[in-house]
Amino acid sequence: MNNQTVVGSEYDKRYKKYKDEIMSLYFSLYPNDHKAYDYFLSVLKKAFNDRAQNLKCLDEERIKSSDWYKGRNLIGMMMYVDSFAGNLQGVYEHLDYIESCGINYLHLMPLLESPSEHSDGGYAVSDFRKVQPTLGTMSDLNRLSDACHERGISVCLDFVMNHTSEDHEWAKLAKKGDPVNQSKYFMYDNWDIPNLYEASVPQVFPQTAPGNFTWCEEANKVVMTTFYPYQWDLNYANPMVFNDMLDNMLFLCNQGIDIIRLDAVPYIWKELYTSCRNLPQVHKLIRLMRLACEIVCPGTLLLGEVVMEPSKVVPYFGSIEKPECHLLYNVTTMATTWHTIATQDTRLLRHQLTQVFSMPKEYTFLNYLRCHDDIGWGLDYPYLQQFGQMEIPHKKYLNDFLTGKLSGSFSRGELYNDDPRLGDARLCGTTASLCGIESALESNNEYALADAVTLDIMLHAYMLTLSGIPVLYSGDEIAQLNDYTYRNDLYKMKDSRYLHRGKLDWNAVENLKDDSSNVVSQVFNGIINLEKLRRFYPVFEGKADVWIINNDNDHILGIGRYHNGEKLTALFNFSHTTQNVPVEEGSYLDLVTGENKQSTTITLNPNSFVWLMQNLK
Ligand code: GLC
Repeated sequence: MNNQTVVGSEYDKRYKKYKDEIMSLYFSLYPNDHKAYDYFLSVLKKAFNDRAQNLKCLDEERIKSSDWYKGRNLIGMMMYVDSFAGNLQGVYEHLDYIESCGINYLHLMPLLESPSEHSDGGYAVSDFRKVQPTLGTMSDLNRLSDACHERGISVCLDFVMNHTSEDHEWAKLAKKGDPVNQSKYFMYDNWDIPNLYEASVPQVFPQTAPGNFTWCEEANKVVMTTFYPYQWDLNYANPMVFNDMLDNMLFLCNQGIDIIRLDAVPYIWKELYTSCRNLPQVHKLIRLMRLACEIVCPGTLLLGEVVMEPSKVVPYFGSIEKPECHLLYNVTTMATTWHTIATQDTRLLRHQLTQVFSMPKEYTFLNYLRCHDDIGWGLDYPYLQQFGQMEIPHKKYLNDFLTGKLSGSFSRGELYNDDPRLGDARLCGTTASLCGIESALESNNEYALADAVTLDIMLHAYMLTLSGIPVLYSGDEIAQLNDYTYRNDLYKMKDSRYLHRGKLDWNAVENLKDDSSNVVSQVFNGIINLEKLRRFYPVFEGKADVWIINNDNDHILGIGRYHNGEKLTALFNFSHTTQNVPVEEGSYLDLVTGENKQSTTITLNPNSFVWLMQNLK
């Protein structure tokens, strides 16, 4: 069968199915622009024709089992290629290790060409078709994604769509005064309009990159730069921008990328007098991208990076009839988890999870303890107010605890974008350092170390208890500590997020033992064992019923799960003291120890947990 026949049948069939909706969305954004629409269609057709046969087969398989990513099988890891293994070839060579970590969803952090001195960790892309030369080539990426697919590993890649690097070809031409390329950005002769924007648009990096605009000497114009000054915001009101960026995205999908992470997606549409976040046009653009994927590469998933409060996040799933993103980060839950560690009080977390558990089961969240970014304190402050915890002092308390300033605190975090005006600092640190492993090792305190390891494993157990896709940050599986070397790097020293992006410690990996004779092995084996249990028991299915188990103890988080006769009672002790927790009478299997329990009271050591299973069939 040649490609032409395939276009004639499958492409047309899929396009026909969505044509009306696509046209209505497209023309609502770009009224009467038929030329742009024709170009958009040519992008889709070309991408469909270019798609390799093996990927088309994978698409067909995934169409048949459209819930393939919603079960309990996927476990993810995110990593910077250079921190993990130097380059793409290195990742390829270490696929055995990745598999030994139980990983079958691999998020490779931005790896496209980006100027090394102004890169924002790769989030300032200068060429969407070229891999950063120090990391390898596009064919290395292809080879890696093929090898991953052979092992049943799906690959996720960032699509940094809100902006380009100021070194991108478009920006370079715009700097030279080319009006066509200037119209792809927001460029102004003077500060009149930028000042109007500033009046309603909040700042993303108030300390490291204040303001939303930058004066460009070369162009003699003011440019919109919501993030860093070298990241120029793209103007999606220009259909050329949307068409060409979609083309770039589909190109990445055709390299065998299974999950596209839509970076900073709430920001992609700007309107004067608004906050320039989450505008209705953003949702139209995402829906269009989703439909483009349904036609060209229906096996591809869209993961939206929406770091906002829950009411802003959920609309990015779209509706059941008209879905937008397949996956979203469970960001408020993540932040609330660290609040719970700092306060030993689970009430807010229970409240937060109750909301998550009440959402339709079709919504799939990505659960994580931390990522490459800072932890921002986007908590439900109106809820906290009833306990007398007010936003600004509470943020200060959390930051003081997690940076180890308070007595009794074991964490070793660092502040990020501390804005003294707003008292709004965020926080950085690896999971192990925030859990106290670093400080315990430093003070050589074996009891504190045992508690810290227990907490670290409990947090992973808690993440694995939630429905959705758990994603570890590379290095957390071996309890890697903060990396302070960024302070000596001219281009990184101002960005404390590099604290938790250190190089993987391969020595520690080599010293991993099957037993628990060292801290690294305790954490690694602990996590791997939990992953195996999660994959083994259907009670962890995305379809399971999930609820909060109410008990009168604010230190304890109880999560119930039920699926097909299996009932799980998961209890987590977020306090530094032993707690006795009543449970319903019954016969329980402790999944971790393999012991049977009949007792109606469970004793939980400080920062420990249990997974108790009942078979009700
Ligand atoms: C996203 C990334 C972050 C980056 C920003 C700008 O939020 O996660 O690391 O700084 O986008 O691209």
